[in-house]
Amino acid sequence: MHRDVNAVSNLVTFTPLGRTASAHPNETLLDVARRANAPLGASCGGVGICARCRVRVVSGSENLSPPTSIESRIGAARGFAADERMACQAVVRGDCAITTTYW
Ligand code: FES
Repeated sequence: MHRDVNAVSNLVTFTPLGRTASAHPNETLLDVARRANAPLGASCGGVGICARCRVRVVSGSENLSPPTSIESRIGAARGFAADERMACQAVVRGDCAITTTYW
């Protein structure tokens, strides 16, 4: 059987929930969290204005898409730390782990 050694799992770990799920192409952290049954706030429908999907990246921040312009603007207004992202804006491109204050 042929195995693609370049295949990436894009595995997202939700800690300390102990849940994991693989991201499909172009899925955001919020998309993956929903499939993994990891509850995340999201009152704007994932368009980047409510900031309720705020998460802290524990590892693998280099495997997420760079902040969008709206994420940078809203994040600055809400005082996001350097390791915080909006789950609805961050597209998963490799393995990472995230957490929130309410898990
Ligand atoms: S769901 Fe509203 S900013 Fe992410």
